[in-house]
Amino acid sequence: MTSQTNIHKKHIIVFTGAGISAESGLHTFRDPNGLWQQYSVQEVATPSAWKKDRKKVLDFYNLRRQQVRQAAPNAAHIALTTLQKHFKVSIITQNVDDLHERAGSKNVLHLHGEIMKARSTVNKNLIYDLGEKDIALGDKCEKGSQLRPHIVWFGESVPEFEQACKIVSQADLLLVIGTSLRVHPAASLIHFVAKETDIVLVSPEMEYVASHITWLKNTAAEEVPRFVESLI
Ligand code: APR
Repeated sequence: MTSQTNIHKKHIIVFTGAGISAESGLHTFRDPNGLWQQYSVQEVATPSAWKKDRKKVLDFYNLRRQQVRQAAPNAAHIALTTLQKHFKVSIITQNVDDLHERAGSKNVLHLHGEIMKARSTVNKNLIYDLGEKDIALGDKCEKGSQLRPHIVWFGESVPEFEQACKIVSQADLLLVIGTSLRVHPAASLIHFVAKETDIVLVSPEMEYVASHITWLKNTAAEEVPRFVESLI
């Protein structure tokens, strides 16, 4: 078999964070104008926040959900759908937006939940697509409990993490896009690749990048289409 054929048998794992959606107009979290500069995590994204002021939490996610609906996938999300035409690709995202899916990507694993979905507060398996709706106080699941955002809050477990580790361990290439790699356990995923697996990171800024990682210092919409072109 030619090396070209071999490469097309590769399993590429893509691990994304808020940075891939920045050029779609959605805020990241830790950049200068990020969400955590505007809101306190403790007041909108923790179980204690939910206990203290459910309406404040619902308002925060309803606002972000509106912003997601007004956003469109950018060239980076679209380039990843091109990649899927040439390779086996699995996307693991920390993002709760649905821009990967709206670009046409399949196999998207959301580590931190999905903002377009609601969940029962008495049975975590009761999950509801919101469509054009938001979540108001008094909106109940079929068991009669208040609906909450289907989001993993700080301090809550990340149910999909084990599955994500299994997927990453199969990577022939790990492409990391738009994450500060500062939130665990998600950030530790990069340590689950096989030792001979290349890791490529796309981000304009990083506090630190380990020497074994190839850092493409650029924005996602600029760099991801170019990188995908170089592979196909
Ligand atoms: N293209 C690519 N990367 C970008 C762009 C861009 N246009 N703009 C910013 N970035 C990079 C930033 O340099 C930073 O490295 O994206 C990263 C965003 O980092 P964070 O704001 O920390 O977002 P993320 O890493 O996704 O946060 C992880 O933290 O608050 C929780 O649950 C939340 O999923 C989130 C998690």
